[in-house]
Amino acid sequence: CVILPEQENWILIGMMGTGKSTVAELLAHKTGKRLVDLDAEIVKAAGCPIPEIFERQGEAVFRELESVVLARLLEDKPLILATGGGAVLNPDNCRLMLDKGWVVALKADADTILKRVGEDSNRPLLAGGAKERILRLLEERKKAYDFAHCTVDTSALEPEQVAAHILMLQR
Ligand code: S3P
Repeated sequence: CVILPEQENWILIGMMGTGKSTVAELLAHKTGKRLVDLDAEIVKAAGCPIPEIFERQGEAVFRELESVVLARLLEDKPLILATGGGAVLNPDNCRLMLDKGWVVALKADADTILKRVGEDSNRPLLAGGAKERILRLLEERKKAYDFAHCTVDTSALEPEQVAAHILMLQR
């Protein structure tokens, strides 16, 4: 168990399809902390959906926006923050998350991720062949989530069970 101050942010990281958004919602409900979804805040800031940002401005612009919005969100606390799967690609973001909260990584195997996300048109990185792209991203990001304070494998668990497990990890 880790002992966390009441006011601590809880930050969920992990690949797409590991359950971050759903679990964050449950945790916010259970803890009373404010729920924030980084992707949703990026959409608000950009004024258009994520696939459109990728299409019109490219991934690099999306990543810049992601870092700016993340830093802005983490000025507030206490939050339950669900991040996008690629928010950890910028090392500054990882440092900031560790500095500003309790970082929990969710992971899942490729088949589970594929089942959960399918051919999702709202996930531009999966466009044109979800399976190959997921496998490639998992390989590229093999170590990207290791900096978290703790990791939960969600492959065989329902979101409620994942949330309960995370609650048990701290007191
Ligand atoms: C991305 C994951 C997405 C979203 C964007 C890029 C990634 O968020 O931020 O499509 O690079 O893994 P989810 O992890 O919530 O799907």
